[in-house]
Amino acid sequence: MKKRTYTDHSIASSDITPEHIFLNRRGLIKASAGTIAGALATPGLIKASAGTIAGALATPSIALGEARAQSALSFSADSDRSLVDEQTPYEAVTTYNNFYEFGTDKSDPARHAHAMTTDPWTVKVGGLVDQPGLLHLEDVLSGFDLEERIYRFRCVEAWSMVVPWVGFPLAELLRRFEPKSEGKFVEFKTLYRRGEMRGTRSFTSIIDWPYREGLRMDEAMHPLTLVAVGLYGKTLPNQNGAPLRLVVPWKYGFKSIKSIVEINVTAEQPQTSWQMLQPSEYGFYANVNPEVDHPRWSQRFERKLPSSIFKPNRVPTLPFNGYEEQVAGLYQGMDLRKFY
Ligand code: MTE
Repeated sequence: MKKRTYTDHSIASSDITPEHIFLNRRGLIKASAGTIAGALATPGLIKASAGTIAGALATPSIALGEARAQSALSFSADSDRSLVDEQTPYEAVTTYNNFYEFGTDKSDPARHAHAMTTDPWTVKVGGLVDQPGLLHLEDVLSGFDLEERIYRFRCVEAWSMVVPWVGFPLAELLRRFEPKSEGKFVEFKTLYRRGEMRGTRSFTSIIDWPYREGLRMDEAMHPLTLVAVGLYGKTLPNQNGAPLRLVVPWKYGFKSIKSIVEINVTAEQPQTSWQMLQPSEYGFYANVNPEVDHPRWSQRFERKLPSSIFKPNRVPTLPFNGYEEQVAGLYQGMDLRKFY
């Protein structure tokens, strides 16, 4: 993959990014010669390897079992795959969320997700792979080249954002575990910890926990499919799926599963939370498609956040959320009304 050092996009990040984050990010990027892998600098946990320099940003040591404080990440920019578009303010990205483990109201995750412990964190990778194993978050942060990807993000509920994620292609992670040729799908699971997730204890809880998602193998290996570890240059806030989540920009947001603890390569199409809940409304593919309405509302338009009754910010929805050129080929010959 072509890597670039950070150069100015035509959008001025300083216009839309809180200044302290912006300055911090520029400082880090300048400090790095060429492309460096970013790391959350927890003393003693950085494993610097030849050719990979862990970007060091001192945070006080974190006791096991405490939520990680947010830290700046260092990364390169992927200007080939990033949008030159107005980004949604940090405030909106981190306070208007769907994370049902913490409640169903958009403000619940920002209010309650701090209860989730994200340190230590491991992801178990198994199923049809030749090298099953555990991936520790520290290895993720020091072992993959992080890049910024500015993506459109379209929720099935017809609102959208533009988010500057920091992460790396899922394909790179999967390759390390060597999927077998019989592996046709990839299944993902979120952490399920009742004690820390008040939404899972609620009598209104409708999901069969843990939250589950899945992709076809070619979708999972597509270069746009990202494992995000940060946004706006910093580690992910808990409400956005700390410490690592999926981002699949051409699909409705529910495919972008948060706080992942398990990944399995499977031969059969895996069960997914929203499809299990209401298969007539939420399909496995969930490609953004203005031509196929949700049974209860149109998908032709979306509310680009932030929006209000005075400024609805209603814009037409694009096929595959604007990524048609890159991904339509994956679905050649398929009836997208049937495979919604
Ligand atoms: N992942 C988990 N584990 N639980 C959830 O409730 N909600 C999904 C997706 N991933 C969800 C999840 C939905 S419906 C959307 S739209 C996006 O997360 C929202 O991501 P955001 O809050 O970062 O905007």
